[in-house]
This record gives sequence, structure tokens and C-alpha cells, in this order.
Amino acid sequence: MTKNFQIVVTGASGFVAKNVRKYLSENNIELISISRKNFKKLKNETKIVSKDYNEKIILPKIKNSNGLIHLVGIGKQSIKNNYNLINVEFTKKIIHLCKKANIKKIVYTSGLGVSKSSSMSYFVSKYQAEKLIIESGLDYTIFRPSYIIGKDDLFTKYLKKQIKKGEIQIPGSGKYSIQPIHIKDVSQIISKAISENKFNKQILDLVGSESISFQKYVTLFSKKTKAKIKKINLESAYHDAISNPHSEFGVDDLNLLVGDFSGDHKKLQKISKISFQSIQELLKSGILL
Ligand SMILES: NC(=O)c1ccc[n+]([C@@H]2O[C@H](COP(=O)([O-])OP(=O)(O)OC[C@H]3O[C@@H](n4cnc5c(N)ncnc54)[C@H](OP(=O)(O)O)[C@@H]3O)[C@@H](O)[C@H]2O)c1
Repeated sequence: MTKNFQIVVTGASGFVAKNVRKYLSENNIELISISRKNFKKLKNETKIVSKDYNEKIILPKIKNSNGLIHLVGIGKQSIKNNYNLINVEFTKKIIHLCKKANIKKIVYTSGLGVSKSSSMSYFVSKYQAEKLIIESGLDYTIFRPSYIIGKDDLFTKYLKKQIKKGEIQIPGSGKYSIQPIHIKDVSQIISKAISENKFNKQILDLVGSESISFQKYVTLFSKKTKAKIKKINLESAYHDAISNPHSEFGVDDLNLLVGDFSGDHKKLQKISKISFQSIQELLKSGILL
């Protein structure tokens, strides 16, 4: 990427955004990052803090940027913030901003398993957001990520919390698989996608090279700890997710976990040409703990 390449990032203080911004900043990309709350500014970065993404504040600053990485999204609903409002309507607002600001390329993170036959409300909202982007006339890359793993992602934090309590719970059999991908690989791929034309008009599963059962994942994750692993009844897990508003794991978190979703890693490898971090090696190293 050349210098003076200017990229806008939404949802700047989120897990993926923090890492992507760091990667872009270290690679001398000019950044304009937008968040609802204050955050630490990086090298080459302009900070915009706006609770409601006020167009009057944002538009003059982002005009003629080379691309926008849209990382606003929710995976759990509440009375205030539902999927339609944040995953769909907010995406509509961002597309509108791109057009007004003469930004021609958008990168979006949807979800692994999203398709036109989706029925789960989280997936439906992500599918609708994808559709808005595809029909917007903008150049786009849509990623459908599996679990994105780093030191402080939600999934890792959830497992670490359980380790602290001395017991990791596996809902149901634990035989269902996940296909996690490391955040460093994600940052690199998103950075390529925003700048390389071959990523235009692509929908890509953002998945690692290894499909791994949750049981094996948890076993490797907790190998260097004294935490016990306990299988819990799936019905009880769902009951807790439904009835306990403070439960770490929501209903859709459970749906995604037991859904056994897998993606096309080969296609991602072919287009990105990066060397992927083995998640099993990462787990064995204990570095995530
Ligand atoms: N992490 C994963 O494993 C994974 C897997 C599949 C898909 N994804 C998708 O990738 C994107 C980024 O994920 P992430 O893990 O970085 O999530 P995250 O840490 O929860 O960050 C999402 C960001 O969205 C913004 N946001 C949330 N509610 C909002 C609202 N009501 N109004 C405006 N902005 C709001 C927030 O940004 P500010 O606080 O800065 O305003 C928040 O930090 C999401 O769309 C997510 O669905 C992630």
C-alpha cells in the first residue's frame, strides 16, 4: 500500500477494530477511526468520537478516503439495541455516508453460516446487511468470520473466566466443530481486502485452516491449567441463556457454537496468499491464557 492511502474504520474500540487499526497504523496507512466513546489515538490516526455517528461531524473528515472498514455489529440483542437497528439499519447509514463522502470501497464482517436460507435472527440481519452492501453499487468485500481469536476476544475471555472459576463447561456433546482464525491473520487479510482489487465483489469465509471440535479446543486451551472440563446438558445451557440476563453466553452464542459451521479456507488462502497461524499450535503454546 502507498502512503497517503486513507482508510475509515467504524466501531473503532471493538476487538477486531483495535487490532485492524493497529496493523494499518503500523503499516503507515492514514486512518480515520470512528467510535461512540473516547479511545486511544494511534500513529497516523484521526479520531472521531460521535455517539450517533453525526453526519455533519463525520462527513467533512472522511471525504474522499480510499475505503471504509465497517466493524460495527452486535451478536446479542437488548431492548435498546436489536439486530435490525445495529446490523441492518446502521449498515444502511454507513453505506449512505460512503456514497456522500465519495468512498468507493467497503469491507464488512458478516458471520460464518450466513446464507439466503438463514432463519436465525442474527444471521438474517447479517444477510440483510450483506444484501444492502452488494446492491449499494460500492465495491465491496464481505467476510464471513468464524471465531476470531486473540488474547482479548469475547470467546477467549469467556473461557478464561471459567478457568478462573476452576471449571470449563461444554454445552452438550462438544463434538460440534469450530474453525477459528487468528486476529493477526484477520488484520492482514482485511488490510489486503481494502486495498487490493482482486478482493472486490468477493464474499469470503474468514476461517482458519483447522476445523476442531469444541471439546478438543477446550482441552487444548486449558491444558496448562488445573481447570476441570464438565459437559453440561444442552437444555440447561439454553435455559440459562434464555432466562439469565447476566449469562455470558446468549442464545445466539450457543446457536453459533453448536451450529457446526465450517467454511472454505482454501478459497481464502488462494486469494490472500498469507501464511496462516495454526490455532492448535497457538492453543498448545498456552499464549492465550
Ligand atoms: N469477533 C468475532 O469472532 C466475530 C465473528 C463473526 C463476526 N464478527 C463481526 O465482526 C464485527 C466486529 O466484531 P468484534 O468482535 O470486534 O465486536 P465488538 O468487540 O463487540 O465490537 C463491535 C463494535 O460495534 C460498535 N457498536 C456496538 N453497538 C453499537 C451501537 N449501538 N451503535 C454504534 N456502534 C455500536 C462498538 O464500537 P464503539 O464502542 O467503538 O462505538 C463495538 O465496539 C461485528 O460486526 C461482529 O458481528 C466478529
